[in-house]
Amino acid sequence: LAGYLARARGVLADPERIVVCSGFTQGLALICQVLRGRGEMTVGVEEFGVMDHRRIIDGFGLAMVSVPVDDAGARPEGLDGTGGLVLTPAHQFPIGVVLSPGRRSQVIEWASGTGGLIVEDDYDGEFRYDRQPVGALQALAPDLVVFAGTASKSLAPGLRLGWLAVPAALLDEVVAAKTIVDRHSANLDQLTLAELITSGGYDRQIRRARLVYRRRRDRLVSEIGRTSPGVRITGIAAGLHALLELPTGRTERDVLERAAARGLAVDGLGEYTTSEHRRRPALVVGYGTPPQHSFTAALARLSASLSG
Ligand SMILES: Cc1ncc(COP(=O)(O)O)c(C=O)c1O
Repeated sequence: LAGYLARARGVLADPERIVVCSGFTQGLALICQVLRGRGEMTVGVEEFGVMDHRRIIDGFGLAMVSVPVDDAGARPEGLDGTGGLVLTPAHQFPIGVVLSPGRRSQVIEWASGTGGLIVEDDYDGEFRYDRQPVGALQALAPDLVVFAGTASKSLAPGLRLGWLAVPAALLDEVVAAKTIVDRHSANLDQLTLAELITSGGYDRQIRRARLVYRRRRDRLVSEIGRTSPGVRITGIAAGLHALLELPTGRTERDVLERAAARGLAVDGLGEYTTSEHRRRPALVVGYGTPPQHSFTAALARLSASLSG
C-alpha cells in the first residue's frame, strides 16, 4: 500500500506509518479522537462537504469553522486557534475544483505556523480524466498532513477499507485510538488488498474503472449539453460526481422533486452545506451509482428532470 500510494499519489509513506481503517469515515473519527485527546476544540472544514463528516467531528465534541471555497479551492482563513483542517485538495467535494498551488502553500503555511493538522481526504484522487492527477498535498509536508485514502471509489464502498498515512509524531495516538475502537481492521481484508496490489490487479482495476467513469462523465456532459443547454457542468473532469448548475429561474427543490418523481436519487448542492449557499442552485450527480444496464435510462430521466 505504501508503494502504491507513493507511485500513484506521490504520498511519502513509510509502511510503519500507515494505519488501515474502516474507510475514510473511521479515519476521520480516529483523527478527531486524537485531536480531542490533545485538547483541541475546533476543526476547520470546507464550506461544502459531506454532512456525515461534520456529524463525526461534532460527535467528538469539536466545534467547526467553515472555510470558504472558491475556484482555487478552500481559502484558509478564520482558522486562529483551530487544531485541524479537513480538506479535499485533489477534487473538492462536491464543488469539483482543485486546490491551487498558491492555496496549497497557504494551507501548509497555516499548519507549520500554528501546529495545526491537515487531514487530506483523497477520496477519488486516482480518477482524473483530462490530465495526470495532482499529487498528494501530504508530499509537501508529511509531518503536518495526514493523508487519508479509501477503496470506496476504486473498489466498492461496502468493503469499508481505507488508510491513513500518519505523521510520525501522531502515530502512537492514532494506533491507540484504533486499538480502542476495533483493535485492527480485518486481516483477511488487508491481506486480500495487499495481494490485489502486489499482483497488479489493483492497478488494472483502477485503469478499468477510470475508463468506465470517464465514459460515463463524457456521456453525461454531452447528453445534458444537448438536452439542457442552460445547465452548466462545472468542476474538473474527475471523480464520480459532477456539479450541474441550474439555469436562472430553476430551484434545486423544483428539479429534485422532478427527479424524485422519476425515481432518481440526486442531491441539491444545499444538502452539502449548513448555511444558505450563495452559489448558483446546482445538482450533485453521482454518475458512478447506476448499474451499467440502467445508465442510459438514468441519463434520460435526468435530462427530463432538467428540461421543461
Ligand atoms: C468527500 C468524501 N470523502 C470520503 C469518502 C469515502 O468515505 P469512506 O471511505 O468512509 O467510504 C466519500 C465517499 O465515498 C466522499 O464523498
